[in-house]
Amino acid sequence: MITKAPKGTADILPSQAYKWQYIENQIKKICEEFCIKEIRTPVFEHTELFERGVGDTTDVVGKEMYTFNDKGDRSITLRPEGTASAARAYIEHGLFNEPQPVKVYYLIKCYRYEKPQAGRYREFSQFGVEVYGSREPSVDAEIMALPMVLYKRLGLKNLTLNINSIGCPVCRKEYNKKLKEFLTANYDNLCDTCKERFDKNPMRIIDCKSPICKDIVKGAPKLLDCICDECSDHFEKVKKNLTAMGIEYRIDPYIVRGLDYYTKTVFEIIADNKNSNSTVCGGGRYDGLIEELGGNSMPACGFALGMERLLLTMEEQGVEIPGADVTDIYIGNIGEESNLFAQSLVMALREKGVIAEKDHLGKSVKAQMKYANKINARYSMIIGDTEIAEGKVRLKNMTDGTETECTLTADEIAGAIK
Ligand code: HAM
Repeated sequence: MITKAPKGTADILPSQAYKWQYIENQIKKICEEFCIKEIRTPVFEHTELFERGVGDTTDVVGKEMYTFNDKGDRSITLRPEGTASAARAYIEHGLFNEPQPVKVYYLIKCYRYEKPQAGRYREFSQFGVEVYGSREPSVDAEIMALPMVLYKRLGLKNLTLNINSIGCPVCRKEYNKKLKEFLTANYDNLCDTCKERFDKNPMRIIDCKSPICKDIVKGAPKLLDCICDECSDHFEKVKKNLTAMGIEYRIDPYIVRGLDYYTKTVFEIIADNKNSNSTVCGGGRYDGLIEELGGNSMPACGFALGMERLLLTMEEQGVEIPGADVTDIYIGNIGEESNLFAQSLVMALREKGVIAEKDHLGKSVKAQMKYANKINARYSMIIGDTEIAEGKVRLKNMTDGTETECTLTADEIAGAIK
């Protein structure tokens, strides 16, 4: 038991970590280009934040949260997503007093008690962006453009951006009325959760995972047909902005998203994955959340993408990720004196930015060279008493096997292997 990680979690082993580092670096770079600054918030929050923010009729809050009482008897929840926490921090630290828009990004672990499968885990990683303080449709469009540009830069193909508008609380009321009329005949066949949702939040029924409910909602009225003039105008402008940026999209009138805070624009990015979950990103506008959480009325818009799903999609599409472990040089040695010499040499080389390694197990020369191969050393050398006495060493190119003579100094070695 203690040598097995809990169900739905995964270790990222040293042989895989470079992939994460590569993607995280690309993310940091793109956020810099979009003038988005990083925010870091706690892994756990007061449970009420998610109940109020994400909504208690959602699956995330109703079924999937890791909630417990701490020793002070407070109800605590491991964050199931990043939007509510970032909004809480925005209010708590008065970021609304700064010039708007305030644009933040986060790279976080999230926790949802879901049935684990390919691309669905109980601990997973999100890259998310939130923009506060602007009602402009250009923000919605940029929020959709960023992940699309990122995916393209990472070499992904065949991704579809599906967009919809779920209107504002005013048009949603009208829609809920129509939806309830449509669902009334089938009320008895809805799952128990959806029976509760019927009065509290009927739109959520559209997103239910139960096959029976999925069947019932087929042919349900579309929100897009019911939105008010202001929401419709906003949606038109969002589309125009996407076109202006050269971002292709598809309208999917059935996207409602699984979280309650959205208003107007919602979107999902879908990959053509065969073996893993294909919803790689989701987001939208949420103009009511900051107020709902106790702040002043403040519009906002954001997205989050699943890092594991991103990596699985890259794998499925055969995208190579650069940066697998490479060591510049392995310094082998024979005997105690040369071991000390090698120790000072690797340190001097590291000071020059060279990735250098030596033996730490008292291995035979043969075993040292085997290790040099394992860590993908580009160059190697073996230092013994003769090399130290003569101040010269043979530098071996591990790729083509050629050897050259070189002075036994960090300067010369660093220059030779550049
Ligand atoms: P979400 O759609 O719940 O939205 O999650 C965003 C992304 O996180 C999903 O598209 C998926 O790639 C990934 N994801 C979700 N659940 C799991 C899981 N169990 N295992 C692996 N990956 C998962 C949100 O979380 C919103 N906070 C997004 C947002 C930000 N909206 C506005 N701002």
